[in-house]
Amino acid sequence: MKAVLRNEISRKDMLKLGVLGSAGLLLPLERAARTQTVSRLRDFPDLFEAKLPVPTVHRPVRRAPKMDYYRVTMQKANVEIIPGLQTQIWGYNGQFPGPTFRVNSGRKMKVRYINRLPEYTTVHTHGAYVDGDSDGHPSKLIPPGRYLDYWFGNQQVARTMWYHDHAEHTTAQHVYNGLAGFYLVEDGFEKLLPLPKGYGKYDIPLVIQDRAFNSDGSLSYTETDDSSSNGMFGDVILVNGKPWPKLAVANRKYRFRILNGSNARPYELALDSGEPFTVIASEGGMFTRPLRVTRLPISMAERYEVVIDFSGHKVGDRVLLKNLMNDKGTASKPENLHSDGSTANVMAFEVVRKEKDDSRIPAVLRPARHNLDQTHLPARLEDSAHTRPFVFKRNGGKWTINGKTWNENRVDELCPEGETEVWHVKNNGGGWVHPVHLHLVDFRIIERNGRAPRPWERSWKDTVFLGANEEAKLLIKWPKVPLGPRKGRTKYVRSYPFHCHNLEHEDHDMMLQFKVKKT
Ligand code: C2O
Ligand code: CU
Ligand code: CU
Repeated sequence: MKAVLRNEISRKDMLKLGVLGSAGLLLPLERAARTQTVSRLRDFPDLFEAKLPVPTVHRPVRRAPKMDYYRVTMQKANVEIIPGLQTQIWGYNGQFPGPTFRVNSGRKMKVRYINRLPEYTTVHTHGAYVDGDSDGHPSKLIPPGRYLDYWFGNQQVARTMWYHDHAEHTTAQHVYNGLAGFYLVEDGFEKLLPLPKGYGKYDIPLVIQDRAFNSDGSLSYTETDDSSSNGMFGDVILVNGKPWPKLAVANRKYRFRILNGSNARPYELALDSGEPFTVIASEGGMFTRPLRVTRLPISMAERYEVVIDFSGHKVGDRVLLKNLMNDKGTASKPENLHSDGSTANVMAFEVVRKEKDDSRIPAVLRPARHNLDQTHLPARLEDSAHTRPFVFKRNGGKWTINGKTWNENRVDELCPEGETEVWHVKNNGGGWVHPVHLHLVDFRIIERNGRAPRPWERSWKDTVFLGANEEAKLLIKWPKVPLGPRKGRTKYVRSYPFHCHNLEHEDHDMMLQFKVKKT
């Protein structure tokens, strides 16, 4: 099956035509620039031809009694994404996506990240409870040819996280080039659940990313280095690094850990069979109870874990994973459910064999008392000391939070350890969307647009999607900051960023930082 490509004018075309840069046309042009970049491929990959790869698992180079040691090299590599062509990527160990960390809760580890790339990098583990030196702060950079050691206490309950580049002003291009991978924390409680098991077999991570390609197969990155970038939208949807792949499945249940690893594109997932997903977890780990939904919006950096049950299907059936979000990421397009459009399709599941299924989805996935860790402090609204308002806005040609832009030397918010606060985050107009992410801590969404949050948003989260003109109230209890091995030294990084996770917005300074202070 061939994907139908839309014929839109790309930013590049507009540059060629000299349309950009005329101040009087600023607003309409910015909006126009938001349409996706069109790939220049002679032959577009067929839909559902490539086999879905599963990222390999990182192996420690050494295991000591109390600590595991890893070594990861950031390097260029050539991989085949478009059949018959080579694409140069930047990958962790040269892989796209990077290899998956699978770590046991409570097990300490040290990762030596070696930078063999021509630019400064830094590695952020998104969702991790780590000391400031190991958080991949945008200004704590690894120069080309050098390395940096990151420490992880992994004092968190089972959850799906990811690691990605976070270098100041170059994050978007670096992640687009391929610097992202999964980081899974596992724990004993989760292992006892009767859910589908076995990494890569019945428990499969799926990272969804859109990309555009030049005719030679190289990645096309058309965002300019200024704040008019609304974000890079590609027209080829990759899952685990392959275009619109297919996965051969048995007629049984599978657990999928879905990450939206795209720079700027939100998705709304649905199965073309109309069957539901059973959502079992969000960024902060397991839900208390499973939830069945037929549509699941997922914005950049969000993670949802779902169980899909193929037992109602016979061998030979095919179920498509579709995207109902429009190409601006602003509205649902239910007609996409049966569209051949390139971005209306994500991947396919082909039922190829019968198999006995001894997994099941328990009615209670994790009682709340077993879901507490350093990032999950039980907060009560009554205890909230104060509300901090944050307005995310395109302001005077800049991406701003409360009118401010990123300044590595300025700490924007001082947050008292142990205290509960409400962060009132607001997307103020313009038709843009902003997924808001905080490092270090998880929150509960207690209100969205003055009403209850959406059913799948009612557990621990580290990212909240703010659609056009949306707002949310986040309940946060500030944890103790882990000190890490450099405790006591003065150069220690003590602040953590919070930002929009549209990576181009982030790079163009829609990012501030907070510091947790002792009370
Ligand atoms: Cu995944 Cu600061 O981000
Ligand atoms: Cu993060
Ligand atoms: Cu944004």
